[in-house]
Amino acid sequence: MVQPAPRGVRGRVRPPGDKAISHRYALLAALADGRSEIRGYSTGGDCASTVHCLRGLGVTIEEVGRDASGLTLSITGRGLGGLVAPDDVLDAGNSGSTMRMMSGILSAHPFQTTITGDDSLRRRPMRRVIVPLERMGARIGSEEGRPPLSIQGTSAIHPIEFSPEVPSAQVKTAVLLAGLHGDGITTVHEPLATRDHTERALHTFGVRVEARGRSVSVRGGQRLVGGRLEVPGDISSAAFWMVAAASLPGSEIVIESVGVNPTRTGIIEVLRRLGAVVEVDADVSNVGEPIGTIRIRHGALGGTVIEPSEVPGVIDELPVLGALATHGGELRVTGAQELRVKESDRISALADGLRRMGADIDELPDGFHVRGSRRLRGGEVDARNDHRLAMAFAVAALGASGPTTIHDAGAAAVSYPEFFAVLESLRA
Ligand code: S3P
Repeated sequence: MVQPAPRGVRGRVRPPGDKAISHRYALLAALADGRSEIRGYSTGGDCASTVHCLRGLGVTIEEVGRDASGLTLSITGRGLGGLVAPDDVLDAGNSGSTMRMMSGILSAHPFQTTITGDDSLRRRPMRRVIVPLERMGARIGSEEGRPPLSIQGTSAIHPIEFSPEVPSAQVKTAVLLAGLHGDGITTVHEPLATRDHTERALHTFGVRVEARGRSVSVRGGQRLVGGRLEVPGDISSAAFWMVAAASLPGSEIVIESVGVNPTRTGIIEVLRRLGAVVEVDADVSNVGEPIGTIRIRHGALGGTVIEPSEVPGVIDELPVLGALATHGGELRVTGAQELRVKESDRISALADGLRRMGADIDELPDGFHVRGSRRLRGGEVDARNDHRLAMAFAVAALGASGPTTIHDAGAAAVSYPEFFAVLESLRA
């Protein structure tokens, strides 16, 4: 049950280690020569799934510490192409990133693996990785394009040039990681730019990657070198506090040590357009992952439109931006049909939940339209086992006149196990 926050939210937050970057550092550390130490590794269930799958493939991973930034992992790399056949089916849990990115790596190992997941993951589309990886030489069985995937990999990956139909960093990553094991240059041409964490992570591990416009290429056979890595705080988790501060009068939140990679900061632009006061102090000079501090204060909310071209930069923040618009202002999102195939159908689940709380929201085939003209009353909502919906509903609930009960609120642990405790600590 979440109670309203009539005096707003105030305080300083160090968000958990970035989920997307944690996955990549663990995967690349496993393929590297030598040992890597990763600090700030996400404590969420999805990143635990990546560790679980890598252990199943013979990788030694030890948890050597834990602090406010997350876990410290020591990973002993097996070298490029050095994973070993698992004894059992691999379980990616709720994590689409684990399944899709791991599929690229497994396609380049000459053994058979079955990788499955929970009920939500087994409903998600995998053809987007099956098609290019089969062109590269793997054989992949599925349940009509959905998990479980049965992957017969090869040690003779063909490099390809690939233009995915949907903009997806997971697909880009799967193809590049397979290509890294091949002989020749693999290139992905994206329809819209997506997050570039894989490109930056490869560079950090000593691999040369060429990015030109929306095309990225990697030459196969390059060795990865393990080392010390630091995962920045997750801006997609910080987004919940940014939106809470933006929407509730009297609020001010400072987010520390957060990743401000320009392919992930679309939320800042949208919040400014809606009227919030956002200051960013960042070191964006290095090719690794930029880290900074974000200070955000409430401002009178106006209206804005999120265009299709902006969607990849805010894809994970759209549910909470929908919640924001229930507190005044107006938000229209189109070109976001990908939301229908995330951990849940996020368009229908968001519209259903916010409407139950009293919101004026229209579901569109590829987005939604929220008008914040009437105050939410609170109510009973279903997060449909989707972490980002559980947290988005909690933020909407802070501005309601009465309490809100969120079913499946525990799903937050997939990316932010500490979410509800932090929420209580931020009440002014
Ligand atoms: C992710 C990419 C996005 C995002 C997901 C994580 C990644 O998915 O929604 O939470 O780490 O590459 P798509 O690549 O399917 O758009």
